[in-house]
Amino acid sequence: MCGIVGYIGNKHKTINVLMDGLQRLEYRGYDSSGIAVIENGHSKIVKSRGKLRNLKKKLSRKTLSGYVGIGHTRWATHGKATEKNAHPHVSGSVSVVHNGIIENYQELKKELIKKGYVFYSDTDTEVIAHLIEDYYKNGLSFENAVRSAFKSIEGSYAVAVISDKAPDRIIAIRKFSPLIIAIGEKENYLASDISAILSYSRKVIFLDDGDVAILEKNGYRITDLEGKEVKRDVSVINWDPVSIEKGGYRHYMLKEIHEQSRAVLDTIRGRFSEEMGEVYFEGLNYKSFNNIKRIVALGCGTSFHACLIGKYMIEKISGIPVEVDLSSEFRYRGPVIDSKTLAIAVSQSGETADTSEALLEARRKGAKTLAITNVERSKIARESDMVIYTRAGPEIGVASTKAFTTQLIVLYLFSIYLGKNRKIITEKKAKDLIGEVLYTPQLLEKALKLEDEIKELGRNLYNYSNFLFLGRGPNYPIALEGALKLKEISYIHAEGHAAGEMKHGPIALVDENMPVVLIAPRNGVTYNKLLGNLQEIRARRGKIIFLTSGEVSEELEKHVDKTIRIPECSSIISPLIAVIPLQLLAYYIAMYKGTDIDQPRNLAKVVTVE
Ligand code: G6P
Repeated sequence: MCGIVGYIGNKHKTINVLMDGLQRLEYRGYDSSGIAVIENGHSKIVKSRGKLRNLKKKLSRKTLSGYVGIGHTRWATHGKATEKNAHPHVSGSVSVVHNGIIENYQELKKELIKKGYVFYSDTDTEVIAHLIEDYYKNGLSFENAVRSAFKSIEGSYAVAVISDKAPDRIIAIRKFSPLIIAIGEKENYLASDISAILSYSRKVIFLDDGDVAILEKNGYRITDLEGKEVKRDVSVINWDPVSIEKGGYRHYMLKEIHEQSRAVLDTIRGRFSEEMGEVYFEGLNYKSFNNIKRIVALGCGTSFHACLIGKYMIEKISGIPVEVDLSSEFRYRGPVIDSKTLAIAVSQSGETADTSEALLEARRKGAKTLAITNVERSKIARESDMVIYTRAGPEIGVASTKAFTTQLIVLYLFSIYLGKNRKIITEKKAKDLIGEVLYTPQLLEKALKLEDEIKELGRNLYNYSNFLFLGRGPNYPIALEGALKLKEISYIHAEGHAAGEMKHGPIALVDENMPVVLIAPRNGVTYNKLLGNLQEIRARRGKIIFLTSGEVSEELEKHVDKTIRIPECSSIISPLIAVIPLQLLAYYIAMYKGTDIDQPRNLAKVVTVE
């Protein structure tokens, strides 16, 4: 949550780099923002409550020069979303921006108050500024003051610090919160997320926990907390800078919905041989899975839904039992885990605090760990024994779309990988299943052609206040996902249920004001049972949106208000395809309602606190 950007150099206008970076980071948190730029030896701080456009408006009335600066966009944890709580926080000559949580801030605050420091905000971050200032003004160098301060700070942080008294540098430090530096020619950058600086430099260093980076115009150094130099590799990022633009779409979410065919294709590329019926993942050796008797799959939000579908896939294709847990529940329930358990953490960002902690808990208990994530070298990727990357490219819309379908295709490929190596499926079966993988990008393209129809449906439905989504088998989690997408971006109350449970409660909600989305691809073993649900909803005058595949008889058409026909495919691939019209439906309902689709209220793209 929150985003950090920093720049030192005079190739670009500092304020432009900061604002450009913050614009790209706004999806991470958007309740306030601020910048600090050192101009002629003095820090100029500008902050604003609310969206970045408020800060922009303020800045348009100022001229700010200077070749060093830091910026921040916030999602409030400690203290309300007010201007005084917006970062940067200042003490003497020191300005600080921070992502994360300082766990011992109350103790530190008490000590600092005793020393005479006055606190202006309700944040935990302000203690960092005062603590550094305290060491600095008592004779330590700027660098040593920062290091000393962080020796007594506990918690998770990515921090950037500047000082009027040392205007030739930015000091950055991280622990449990991502931070990168990007290298330019006579200029350097700093960011919590690659997308902030990707259009300026692709040469990136991922800082490790405990690293302190000192950025100057003509170079950089990285040390540990004791001041000892450490070497870190420079990675060249191959994400296309165009991928972080809206590319002509009105919202990132719509662009990302449309990117799903390409994203799935990229994710499967080079990972199988259809001829041999084999699946490969770079860096994975089947020996690591030889003695696995059970899998636990962990995730939050949309990634949790991917885990639920993964259970159907893995159990069906590899025969290994899978338990699925919400990361936040797993951590605290004393789960039974042993060395024959494989814990799979599914996370787009690779940063979600609950998922990372759940994975560590499984690891502590002896499980092998595998991360399925979209972000290279993210926290969860680094903490796992093994990683499979989805290759969705940057996902900026807060409501996850392309990350989800790429997670599903990875889980499907992984099921084949396990099934084939365990000899649960024959070579012929593996080839058939891989054939389906190959065909999936085309199916996604076809499903996207439903857009105009769904837009029209959205126009007819956006005034309803409640929705039900029902599905069975691998499409039960798609009912959950359809409901989640709708409530996230349109703020309409929506519930997803297993259709078989309808008679145990949800049916009580059905009347003429309740649109019910019934997800019933034709090839599922429970198709006929879903038709039974359809009649029951009809009998109670519910409005039926029937999502199916193949032909629908005239008789059946009479009973539904709208049929959405997705392309035919196997039951196990159908969730990837069925989710497309539901993403589009949520999108268009939100569009007609006029909500903030890419940055819905109260949500954040990356949830780095519990
Ligand atoms: C937040 C996002 C969701 C996402 C969830 C899990 O709630 O808004 O879109 O599904 O976090 O995030 P992860 O990065 O772990 O997949």
